[in-house]
Amino acid sequence: MMRIDILSAVPQLLSGFVDASIVGIARKKGIAEIYVHDLHDYGLGKYRQIDDYPYGGGAGMVLRPEPVARWIEHLQSERAYDEIIFMTPDAPVLHQRAVNALALKQNLLIIAGHYKGLDQRIRDKYVTMEWSIGDYVLSGGELPAAVLTDAIVRLLPGVLNDETSALTDSFQNGLLAPPVYTRPAEFEGMEVPPVLRSGDHRAIEQWREAQSREKTRRIRPDLLGE
Ligand code: ADE
Repeated sequence: MMRIDILSAVPQLLSGFVDASIVGIARKKGIAEIYVHDLHDYGLGKYRQIDDYPYGGGAGMVLRPEPVARWIEHLQSERAYDEIIFMTPDAPVLHQRAVNALALKQNLLIIAGHYKGLDQRIRDKYVTMEWSIGDYVLSGGELPAAVLTDAIVRLLPGVLNDETSALTDSFQNGLLAPPVYTRPAEFEGMEVPPVLRSGDHRAIEQWREAQSREKTRRIRPDLLGE
């Protein structure tokens, strides 16, 4: 069974997520275990401080190294981790290939930063992989950690009802997914493309492929190397 541990300064942000959603289903089915740990458990002093002012000045607080290091050492004393992943905007942007590879691992540890960042010495000593979820800045790494966890867990065998569904996602073939339709065949004067109702599986496949290509060229030409 896959295990994902998440270190967070605001674990409440993640509790609903791990209980509900696809991740909750995976837990209930015994396919994945997800644990969220509060960095304050190893906070310093009476107020369980986990952050401090940046050396050299500047705005915002920085996560101190000690609480993070203690949590990592604690968890590593119980099991080996395949990757220790830090979610941060100053990193490569996450992509489906990386998610596919992570879905084959056994134990993952994800650090959700908060405040202005994480002391660089933790990144140097412990972190093995860093991902951004996009070129915009959030107030913390909790949502990015949830995004990564969801993307991984939904690929685990048995989580999705339709086993082939994850394979036909956008990006799994390097293209955006084609349009999809369901009943009714006509909605407010708009018809479902007849080919999808033709029963001709080869024609349907060709139509979807063409739609994928056209859509990718139009809105994400970068994916085609154009
Ligand atoms: N933390 C804040 N913004 C982020 C982003 N875009 N990706 C990953 N972690 C983040």
